[in-house]
Amino acid sequence: MADTATGTGQPHRTAPGVNGRAYQFVDHTFDVVVVGAGGAGLRATLGAAQAGLRTACITKVFPTRSHTVAAQGGVAASLGNMGPDNWRWHMFDTVKGSDWLGDQDAIEYLVRNAPAAVYELEHFGVPFSRTQDGRIYQRPFGGMTTEFGEGPPAQRTCAAADRTGHAILHTLYGQSLRYASEFFIEYFAIDLIMDQEGACVGVVALNMDDGTLHRFRAQKTILATGGYGRAYFSATSAHTCTGDGNAMVLRAGLPLQDMEFVQFHPTGIYGAGCLITEGARGEGGYLTNSEGERFMERYAPSAKDLASRDVVSRSMTMEIREGRGVGKGKDHIFLHLDHLDPKILHERLPGISESARIFAGVDVTKEPIPVLPTVHYNMGGIPTNYHGEVLTLRNGNPDTVVPGLMAVGEAACVSVHGANRLGSNSLIDLVVFGRAAALRCAETIEANDSQAPLPENAGELAISRLDRFRNANGSTPTAALRLSMQKTMQDNCAVFRTGEILEEGHHKIHQVWAASEDVRVADRSLIWNTDLIETLEYDNLISQAVVTMDSALARQESRGAHAREDFPDRDDQNWMKHTLSFADTQKRTVSLADRPVHTYTLSNEIEYIKPKKRVY
Ligand code: SIN
Repeated sequence: MADTATGTGQPHRTAPGVNGRAYQFVDHTFDVVVVGAGGAGLRATLGAAQAGLRTACITKVFPTRSHTVAAQGGVAASLGNMGPDNWRWHMFDTVKGSDWLGDQDAIEYLVRNAPAAVYELEHFGVPFSRTQDGRIYQRPFGGMTTEFGEGPPAQRTCAAADRTGHAILHTLYGQSLRYASEFFIEYFAIDLIMDQEGACVGVVALNMDDGTLHRFRAQKTILATGGYGRAYFSATSAHTCTGDGNAMVLRAGLPLQDMEFVQFHPTGIYGAGCLITEGARGEGGYLTNSEGERFMERYAPSAKDLASRDVVSRSMTMEIREGRGVGKGKDHIFLHLDHLDPKILHERLPGISESARIFAGVDVTKEPIPVLPTVHYNMGGIPTNYHGEVLTLRNGNPDTVVPGLMAVGEAACVSVHGANRLGSNSLIDLVVFGRAAALRCAETIEANDSQAPLPENAGELAISRLDRFRNANGSTPTAALRLSMQKTMQDNCAVFRTGEILEEGHHKIHQVWAASEDVRVADRSLIWNTDLIETLEYDNLISQAVVTMDSALARQESRGAHAREDFPDRDDQNWMKHTLSFADTQKRTVSLADRPVHTYTLSNEIEYIKPKKRVY
């Protein structure tokens, strides 16, 4: 663990605060700085350190508390342990799942590298569940099929019971500690340091424990800061999922991509929002309405309860709207596991059996679980290529690499998930692209190479932001602003959208953004000031909420998770393109541009998968 006073810290420098106070920095120099210690961040840290690069990992929570710990059902890879499978079928399913918004070169990279990535996890020590003959156990998941969608469901999702993310995260943290990487734990990253040429040269962070401020200079800064589920009122995401890296990118004048695509997981526990894994349906669970009907048979005659998430979430919402919801308010749906052998539940779904007992008061062996579609994942994020290099629009070229800056995991939009991610493709994305980013660092930089001195004013922007919020003396508490933002996103940018609802949402969310000027922070200290940290997080969330709403309003078609009732069809002619959104956080304005979808593959071993109607 780094000692902030000595460790890699260099003599202190100072930066002025807006209120006349001087802030001191502790300076550090590394080859690679990774921000975030979830699955992607740890895999990148491990890979960079393994390659002999001086690597730091900055994380606002203890690594094994990162949100990857909550991933349940599994990690997708075409191992073929439970029946025939191959990477081409996985590629077809992922492209179809993405509703043809995914970049096919990146998708090929993902699915081809998936089996090796899972075996690597196995060798690292992930305690996967096993088949009778000792192979990694694989279960069916939504949208995963065989024979290019024509065959039976694929058993492709490699599982460690229903605690796969937990197992992966703990194993990767253990492995990272084998190499000479330094962890800066409970450090909150405030902003990127960009130079005059638009290259990223590091990041500024606050050590929440002792209030010291740190400048990390690096040849490569890798953002692995996760999604921003907490922009919504009800989410399976942890309270820490505030998309801090995404917001830093917006403040650096760089775009986010495809922010209108927000995934609702069909089975969040009604009321609490906690995740009940799709693996529950993979093991034979099914959904019913108030008439006891297995309604998914009507909406997805072939895949039924294992259709992709956007399809299942919309079907559940339609049942509720048409008066067939369950419960007193007829406002949710039942998930049945009570017909399954209790031994199977105990062995393969112990975690969700416990969550259902604690959060819904339900014994899953006897009663159905009350569930509701709940915000779960952000397909949008920081645009990158499949090496993890961040892209921006410069001189008309939307694939221009931003020197020094990389992004991986849910923070990134590679884009392998396009308009809708398939369940269990997230964990594989973390490890495949975490590894890819480390490999790219090893290819493109030299260990211990000299680095230009930091720009004279490096870190001042971050400090002025920190100082402004630390001394915010308005009349609206952060919690009130956050609630208005979350309610607006939940009501106006949900499973189904219309122009009218989005217009209203656009108006309301911009009002919340403007009202943020009036924020009040009560605690002025720098040590464990949760009021200040929550305000910085809120400020991160609101800029992402605004670009999400505005991107959704602009996209006049239905594709994947973006279901416009006023534009019910996919429109490939006009909309098979990524949305790029920029935010001017000073003037509080948003501008949109676009970027072509990569309609080519990485190799000639598979052809471009042409768009067709997406039915399950
Ligand atoms: C789940 O187990 O359903 C969540 C895993 C994922 O989102 O891929």
